[in-house]
Amino acid sequence: MLDQLEQLRREALSSIAAAENEEDLEAARIHYLGRKGAVKKIMGLMPSLPAEQKPAAGKLANQVKTAIMAALDEREAALGSGSPAKPAGPQFDVTLPGIAPKLGHLHPVTRAWNELVGIFARMGFECVFGPDLETDYYNFEALNMPPEHPARDSWDTLYIDDKHLMRTHTSPVQIRAMATRKPPLRIIMPGKCFRRDTADASHFPVFHQIEGLAVGPDITFADLKAVLSEAMKAFFGPDTRTRFRPSFFPFTEPSAEVDISCTFCHGEGCPACQGKGWTELLGAGMVDPNVFEAGGYDPDEYTGCAFGMGIDRAAMYRFGIRDLRLLFENDLRLMRQL
Ligand code: PHE
Repeated sequence: MLDQLEQLRREALSSIAAAENEEDLEAARIHYLGRKGAVKKIMGLMPSLPAEQKPAAGKLANQVKTAIMAALDEREAALGSGSPAKPAGPQFDVTLPGIAPKLGHLHPVTRAWNELVGIFARMGFECVFGPDLETDYYNFEALNMPPEHPARDSWDTLYIDDKHLMRTHTSPVQIRAMATRKPPLRIIMPGKCFRRDTADASHFPVFHQIEGLAVGPDITFADLKAVLSEAMKAFFGPDTRTRFRPSFFPFTEPSAEVDISCTFCHGEGCPACQGKGWTELLGAGMVDPNVFEAGGYDPDEYTGCAFGMGIDRAAMYRFGIRDLRLLFENDLRLMRQL
């Protein structure tokens, strides 16, 4: 019986494969699988088999039947479409271009922040943080601006109440750091700052600064110049020049404003630098003795230099963005280009 089944399978498969049209196929179906077909006929012999042969015969009979059904379907599909049988499974065109996955990246301000921290870290500066919400004491008084001091007007301050405010610069972290550390020290203090400014191309009410402070027995203005000009070259490129202009801050004496050569026109003068060829990036100076006293350092024993730099402005000049507001609108069409 097993031989008969095998023979039936061979016969059926070859006659199905040879079917040239629907009719041939239908005839084959009836011949093999019909109510009085070949498969049924062999199955009819089953009861007469010895009991121990029945399971194997039954199993093979089912396999033969399934094989014949599959062959019929396959041949039908091939005849129907006039093409060779299609493979099973989903059909897709492997030559179609793929969908590129969208990769994210860090925000330009975060990148500038990280890079600047790295540059100063390589010069031996340790990173220190302070709170965004400050007391009047740390933001002003300890920085040599007693209550009612007119210099306070230089910072459009967001007050929380009489004693608390959103810090207008990162300089208060200098005082906090001095209170917990012994000189000599070299620290940088990045963070958010807040001012009551209306947003325009170069102002935003929330922005970022990176503050620097170096204190030791013989720190001079030359150290300040060297650190800043090297840091600017590292951040903006080796041909970047720095310019120190005399200025005033209550917490440094002498004080300077530091410009870098415009990264758009390399000093030639362009709309981004208003034709000046330079752009202001930092406030800096030698730490005022009154600030050392507020921090608990002896001004007769130590000198120090300090600087504060706008991270957002640095990011603008570094990544070629001409309007500060664009950095915070987070329009992906722009961010993807950076
Ligand atoms: N804190 C100053 C500002 O925000 C910058 C500065 C820092 C100047 C340190 C001198 C020394 O404008």
